[in-house]
Amino acid sequence: MKIKNVLVTGAGGKIGRAVLPELVKAGFSIRALEFNDGLNVERLKAVEVVRGDLRDEALAPKLIEDMDAVIHLANVKENRQLFVDANVKGTFYLLDACKNCGHIRQYIQAGSDARAGIYYYPQPIPIDENHRHSGYPGYYPLSKVLEETMCEQYRIMYKLPITVLRFSWVHDEDDILAHITLAEPNFGVPVWQDWVVTDEQKSYFKHGKDAVACLLHPDGRAGKRQIVGIKDVVKSIMLSLGNPTAIGEAFNVSGPSPFSYDVAANYVSEKLNLPVVGFQVSEFHDFCIDMTKSRSVLGLNPQYDIFRIIDDAIAFRKSGKKQTTCLYPG
Ligand SMILES: NC(=O)c1ccc[n+]([C@@H]2O[C@H](COP(=O)([O-])OP(=O)(O)OC[C@H]3O[C@@H](n4cnc5c(N)ncnc54)[C@H](O)[C@@H]3O)[C@@H](O)[C@H]2O)c1
Repeated sequence: MKIKNVLVTGAGGKIGRAVLPELVKAGFSIRALEFNDGLNVERLKAVEVVRGDLRDEALAPKLIEDMDAVIHLANVKENRQLFVDANVKGTFYLLDACKNCGHIRQYIQAGSDARAGIYYYPQPIPIDENHRHSGYPGYYPLSKVLEETMCEQYRIMYKLPITVLRFSWVHDEDDILAHITLAEPNFGVPVWQDWVVTDEQKSYFKHGKDAVACLLHPDGRAGKRQIVGIKDVVKSIMLSLGNPTAIGEAFNVSGPSPFSYDVAANYVSEKLNLPVVGFQVSEFHDFCIDMTKSRSVLGLNPQYDIFRIIDDAIAFRKSGKKQTTCLYPG
């Protein structure tokens, strides 16, 4: 499949800024959409930066002029005011423009494991691509289900060549430390402070003392979940773009295996010399993501397990680099 010119929306976001240099390196000509929210797109050779708002219906047809493919990453997260206009209508305008122009050879939609409910519902078997849509409560999962449903219908109704990549929670920079340690900055869910019960737990927050959180079920077992490193996410996009076997398909994009909070917490504890404190979270269901299809069809072999993600996060903190602004955490 011959693809040269690629539109990337959300190019200034977490995934966009990581994938852009790789697309350039691979020889694609990029049109990158930049929104006026301060998440500016890196100015690179072979990247034409266009400013615009996907809520503007007139924008999509102009953006896809001369393009062979679209990588749609733009999105707002848990935002009741914006998600219908930015995510649902924004995706609809793009899909419809792609259908009308007739020259798009591949449309890649950023999906999410949020559409399968992750830890909010009991997950007795690994979540594979056939797992029905069952987003957890919230506007973000709702928008991911609606975006995918529109994609599926545009594939069925108009044979639009769609690929959906369902990313797990993406980890970059020191995200995992922001999640698993108590000190600020805090990132992701569950939020440990919501599950404080004991005096020991209270004292860490009261005295601003840092520790590593270990998520526990009410019966004392450690919780298990699956996340993904940013480099594996970038790899999944590069393996999908221009790949005929990816057309018409949805793929899970996650790490090599789930991790257990006790293992992760003990590893961070040893590395950073911090105590481990348990938090019982009654509404957490273990889940894991079935990566068989991505491995066998795309040839995606995720490299970033929890230890590597933690090692990279520690190295990032040691380097003194500043965390990139995150307007829509998640
Ligand atoms: N980060 C994750 O953990 C994660 C996990 C699963 C799926 N995803 C999905 O991947 C995609 C990219 O995620 P991300 O983490 O890079 O997001 P991000 O929040 O870092 O970036 C979102 C991008 O969308 C742009 N944007 C927002 N509103 C816009 C509008 N009205 N018009 C044009 N652009 C607009 C922003 O400027 C930004 O560049 C999203 O669809 C998201 O749902 C992300």
